[in-house]
Amino acid sequence: MARYMVTSALPYANGPSHLGHLAGAYLPADIYVRYLRMNGHDVFYACGTDEHGVPITITAEKLGLTPAETVDKFHSIIERDFRDFGISFSSFSRTTTKEHRDFAQSVFLELLRKGSIEPRLMKQLFCPSCERFLPDRYIGGTCPRCGSADARGDQCENCGVWIEPLELLEPRCSICGNSPEVRETKHWFLLLDRFQGWISEWLESRENWKDNVLNYCRGWLKDGLRERAITRDLDWGVPVPLPEARGKVLYVWFEALLGYISITREYFREKGDPDGWERYWKDPDTRLVHFIGKDNIVFHCIIEPAILRGMGTYNLPWNVPANEFLNMKGQKFSTSRGTAVWLRDYLDRFPPDPMRYALAVNAPETRDTDFSWDEYLARNNELADVLGNFVNRTMKFATGRLGGRVPEAEPSPEPLEMAARGAAQVGGLIERFRFKLAASAAMDIAREGNRFFDAVRPWKTADTDPEACRRDMAGCLNLCAALQVIFRPFLPFTSDRIGAMLGTGELRWESALGRILEPGAPLGPPEILFTKLEEGFQRAFENPAAPAPAREEKPLVELDDFARLDLRVGRILSVSPVAGADKLYRLMVDVGEETPRQVVAGLRRHYTEESLQGAMVVVAVNLKPVTLRGTESRGMVLASDGAGGVKLLTPDPGATPGDRVR
Ligand code: 2FM
Ligand code: ZN
Repeated sequence: MARYMVTSALPYANGPSHLGHLAGAYLPADIYVRYLRMNGHDVFYACGTDEHGVPITITAEKLGLTPAETVDKFHSIIERDFRDFGISFSSFSRTTTKEHRDFAQSVFLELLRKGSIEPRLMKQLFCPSCERFLPDRYIGGTCPRCGSADARGDQCENCGVWIEPLELLEPRCSICGNSPEVRETKHWFLLLDRFQGWISEWLESRENWKDNVLNYCRGWLKDGLRERAITRDLDWGVPVPLPEARGKVLYVWFEALLGYISITREYFREKGDPDGWERYWKDPDTRLVHFIGKDNIVFHCIIEPAILRGMGTYNLPWNVPANEFLNMKGQKFSTSRGTAVWLRDYLDRFPPDPMRYALAVNAPETRDTDFSWDEYLARNNELADVLGNFVNRTMKFATGRLGGRVPEAEPSPEPLEMAARGAAQVGGLIERFRFKLAASAAMDIAREGNRFFDAVRPWKTADTDPEACRRDMAGCLNLCAALQVIFRPFLPFTSDRIGAMLGTGELRWESALGRILEPGAPLGPPEILFTKLEEGFQRAFENPAAPAPAREEKPLVELDDFARLDLRVGRILSVSPVAGADKLYRLMVDVGEETPRQVVAGLRRHYTEESLQGAMVVVAVNLKPVTLRGTESRGMVLASDGAGGVKLLTPDPGATPGDRVR
């Protein structure tokens, strides 16, 4: 028996989770963890929400909530969605706990003491009236390159140049509008460069790591590791535990990685076993496995190992089976494009297992993979036609023709062999993180079962050779029991139902290697395991939520009518309220012309000024100018308006101001 410490990336608590998240870091981990537990291994599976950093503060601003309200809201949503998908965390916590703060601060101090973290003096803008150092995005000013008055401390949205805050001309504090001054300030750096040699050697000695993961790391190492600031000027986060660091917090990635450990510590402390966590993090026999998406590789394969190594007493990752991305229609899941499938929207309509299976078979293990509803339909129906059918016909025959009991006969050997061979194969694949192949191999066993059933024709032999019929059916029933075992990592809810029909409950993995059912044992009534779907089922799904409000149909127009509109990509350069109009903003929008356009838009109730700064939009530019509340508007920013609220239309990254929209 071995011990495993398994983690899934801590999702930011800034929105609900979608299928891309599930497929990347949670479902594969759950399959792995369930399999390990069925084999009697000691497994702790930690996860929780990542609740600090700019991703949270930006979302909070957009939603008009405080950061604390934002993370509370999404923590509960994310937790519930994953649980309802059967993700079997040992603990799902969060990074805003006291436990986490204390632990992250103690690690910071220890690394500082041990010399892996050092302070550096930097020049930075300080606002005397707000009495704070200003993070890049809280500084406005004039662009040193193009002269635009709307540049920010990190970038000029007008000419696109990357700016260091101190290069901005006439800088101003975007909180209070006053001029900040340059002051020296300290930030703390993780001295990653000192780990370069060790990390390269360590990575090259990893066995059975995925090529994509190693290659990605090699790229980083080739460029040379540099020291990285691990503190920030923000008021939302884990405070840097030093008196001279007032107003500074730990960089979110530095502390989030420590969340895996603090969550384990919290769990064992609450259980009254305050040292229990050390078995999972320090005992060299424990295998640490991180499930993540590819965007997190550098953090888990370079930064975390450096931190853990710097601490000296912690285990290093045993494997990091990072996945590529699950896309939809060739693009990342995205709310604004309507290509995100939210877990809750799915769960409101369908059971979790068919999606678990569809995502496992179609997992983005070695390359980005597209999710499609057609694929989902095919996988759902495969479950019904192959696994569901085999269990159902076997159970029906046993209840209808064999008195509802396991026949008192020596099972035919073929089904037992199929189960034993299949269990060994599927298990081996799961151990090697090949979940896609494992799920297909599991289905192949059920397929073989159906072929056996067809070949032995129990409905005939019941009359012609009752003894053979009893043996074959004992074999098929045992195969159903084995399928319950083999499918459990993928289809936990279905396995429970098969277990209930057969009266076995949960079983250990090795039980699939031999005969499971007692002769003469009573069987429960057969149940239909899966509902087949028909083409077009997803239409209801793709337009979810309440029935769409009846909308006024507009008459058909000629293509030419449409073409008369001049629609262009624009970038919002500045935002200010229109005096006396509580719904309106005055926007200056770059639509690719000499000078920006002034556009008045009714977005004030839906977006903060901050969130519109720099936003890419679509603008109708040849509408006749109108004057709204005394302010001239020379264009219209396009947005959707319906059950989803008012949402700006945003072009894909790469589009530039002035591009035509057709
Ligand atoms: O990419 C993300 O969503 C991060 N919140 C992942 C953090 S993983 C770990 F560091 F906690
Ligand atoms: Zn200020």
